[in-house]
Amino acid sequence: MPLTLVLVACVSAFISTVAYLFWRRMNYWRQRGIPHDEPSYLYGSFHRLTKAFGYSEILRSMYERFKYSGPFCGYYFFQRPAVMVLDMELVKNILIKDFANFSDRGLFHNKRDDPLTGHLFFVDGSKWRILHGKLSPIFSEYKVRGMFPYVRNVALQMVDVLNELVKRGSSIEVKELMGRYTTDVIGKCALGIECNSLKNPNAECRTIGRRISTDRRHGLLVSALIEGFPKLARLLRMAVTHPDIEKFFMRLVRENVEYRQKNNVRGNDLMNLLMELSKSKNLRYDENDEFKGLTVEEMTAQAFFFFAAGSEKSSATLSYTLYELALQPELQERLRCEVNETLEQHDNELTYECLNEMQYMKQVLAETLRKYPVLPHLARQALHDYVVPGHPKYVIPAGMLVTIPVVGIHYDAEIYPNPELFDPERFTPERMKLREKIEWLPFGDGPRKCIGFRFGHMEMSVALVYLMQHFRFSVSAMTKSGKRLPKNGIFLKVERV
Ligand code: HEM
Repeated sequence: MPLTLVLVACVSAFISTVAYLFWRRMNYWRQRGIPHDEPSYLYGSFHRLTKAFGYSEILRSMYERFKYSGPFCGYYFFQRPAVMVLDMELVKNILIKDFANFSDRGLFHNKRDDPLTGHLFFVDGSKWRILHGKLSPIFSEYKVRGMFPYVRNVALQMVDVLNELVKRGSSIEVKELMGRYTTDVIGKCALGIECNSLKNPNAECRTIGRRISTDRRHGLLVSALIEGFPKLARLLRMAVTHPDIEKFFMRLVRENVEYRQKNNVRGNDLMNLLMELSKSKNLRYDENDEFKGLTVEEMTAQAFFFFAAGSEKSSATLSYTLYELALQPELQERLRCEVNETLEQHDNELTYECLNEMQYMKQVLAETLRKYPVLPHLARQALHDYVVPGHPKYVIPAGMLVTIPVVGIHYDAEIYPNPELFDPERFTPERMKLREKIEWLPFGDGPRKCIGFRFGHMEMSVALVYLMQHFRFSVSAMTKSGKRLPKNGIFLKVERV
């Protein structure tokens, strides 16, 4: 047989095999007879993804369509068959009871070529276990209480800035202002640096903070392929973090570490803890690979994630809270009364204890986090095949991505009647007793729950105390009220109380 013919045969065999494997992958759920969302070959279940109809909307619609079909339904996380859990008992099993089998997230990360992805949220297996044990104490009650005075100072600076803005005009974009506040807070508490973004909206930290949530290294298609084939993407040495963001954090941490080492500075912050971990000699990543302490890249990855989580998630939640309170002035007034009464009982000084006494504040934040969960879904990956108890046909195979549709659960009318309504009464202690704890998941649950939840809560409550004490918020002509959150920023009318 001529050589060209052999070559053609080999190439066709290769293409046919790849095409067959791809077809088999995209027909995974059909072949098993499990109800599923019909995928597109390029984007899986996310082919309808647009700016207006995002992940949240797609997940919610899938949850609603398949809710009564079984304990889970199938879908395609781009080209990756995945499970969406529909039954609350199964949610509990995956997050808590059978956590040992679902301790990984299984999301793309590539420490070698994209060092900022080597953080606690992305790493799995024994690396996660060791890092989690070392990093979670930084957000203990004791440590968070220690950070409180600093947070209070930044919140007071925010009041000054807002006072100035109100003098110039009453319609204010609150999302950006909240972003400046949370950037200064997390910059100091996590990295030990003064970001100064309240004083200077164009401060470098803030500009980068804004870019973390918008700038991607690749477009949707390449990102889809990376998430669809994370192992292959790692093999091909792909990266997802934007190079400018990587450069900024690498420089920031390197300079910070050098400065502290040279001047023998010991801050009471995360950077200090990370520096101690970098020297640690007695930890192991796994049986074969001795862990000799964090490298600068690994330290930077943690610092980067803490910065991103601490600035964007809390500022988004704060601005949604202000938006809802502007739409319902009577709720705002109730919160203001609680703040004023509590402060009066404490000689007009905000203490850490005051926050615990503000029950309505807790309810308002809980309801905002229900209506606007910052992560619309939680991700886990099965380590071994898992047969859903009581449903032998429903098997979650080893390696399968498992999605807990937080947004679907939070908008389930059987759990939260009239889910579009912002109603903090859903979170009174009495009403909460009537619901399963697992039905409210803005911070996740189980051993992989958010470790920064206490800090995030404190940071948001302190801001709200001062905002309610000094200002009144109402809907401005630039913010159309309605079912959907305004996409062009949250402009509110702000007056001094
Ligand atoms: C409103 C504020 C915040 C929200 C709504 C939030 C939400 C979440 C959620 C949903 C997860 C995933 C949990 C799961 O899979 O079960 C998570 C994980 C995480 N969050 Fe937060 N977070 C917030 C603030 C913070 C802050 C301020 C920090 C730290 C500075 C932080 C650090 C982390 C870390 C390190 C993880 C990964 C935990 C692990 O995998 O072990 N978060 N967060």
